[in-house]
Amino acid sequence: MKFLFKLAIFPIFVSLIFSVNSHAAGELKEPLHPYWSFEGPLGTFERASLQRGYQVYTEVCAGCHSMDYLSYRNLVEDGGPEFSEAQAKAMAAQFEVKDGPNEDGEMFLRPAILSDKFVSPWENEQQGRAANGGAYPPDLSVMVKARPGGADYLYSLLLGYEEPPSDMKLDDGVYYNIYAKGQKIAMPQLLYDGAVEYTDGTVSTPEQMAYDVTSFLTWAAEPKLEARKRIGFKVIAYLLILSFLLYFTNKQIWRESR
Ligand code: HEC
Repeated sequence: MKFLFKLAIFPIFVSLIFSVNSHAAGELKEPLHPYWSFEGPLGTFERASLQRGYQVYTEVCAGCHSMDYLSYRNLVEDGGPEFSEAQAKAMAAQFEVKDGPNEDGEMFLRPAILSDKFVSPWENEQQGRAANGGAYPPDLSVMVKARPGGADYLYSLLLGYEEPPSDMKLDDGVYYNIYAKGQKIAMPQLLYDGAVEYTDGTVSTPEQMAYDVTSFLTWAAEPKLEARKRIGFKVIAYLLILSFLLYFTNKQIWRESR
């Protein structure tokens, strides 16, 4: 019995040790936590927010960050921003992709179509680094999953720019951000009031833009989130009903023999 007890509490100890450690090593400031429409067991994405988020991504972030895992057709699919096919086609056509070779053996540029991947701002990593003082703007496709704190961290990071303390020296191209590791980041502040003009008329405060683009990036990192939650809900409901039936079946079966 004692052994079983030890066996049961061992994992708790291990997880405690690890959680303490990861806090110490990260030295990150606790991120802000806005209310996300997609949190909780029944959470879903807010369509309008995803659509605005796409606008923020293309107009602000796409100048530096690729999203290699996304195709323009994903913008039409269920559970995402759900743009109409015509809208998504027009959005894709704003970008050019290199195609070819043609009959003359030459590569050529053509407007992107739905089956194309999101066009990267850089030909290669070196070009991206050269344009950003040596720091490579990482691909944002699965960034929400790749950072501890996920959506909260990204949201906070986008809003975390402040005046550096007077005793801190910052190199050129390095900015002070209270949520960044070591409070320094090679990405400038981008979300100023009105940085984008939302097509749906929403007022574009920095908080609104950070919220929308983070929702969009969360969907990109987990496009099946809504389907997963729906299935989870059905499974739990099914199990509840089943337990209920089994309980009464059991009672019925043993009723006589008491
Ligand atoms: C002018 C170019 C530029 C633009 C525009 C830009 N970024 Fe960045 N971003 C960078 C660079 C450079 C880095 C790498 C920073 C570093 O390593 O210190 C970065 C890093 C990041 C990171 C990773 C931070 C981490 O924890 O490592 C995220 C997330 C991010 N950017 C999100 C965004 C979003 C969202 C937008 C649009 C609102 C955006 N960026 C616009 C240049 C840019």
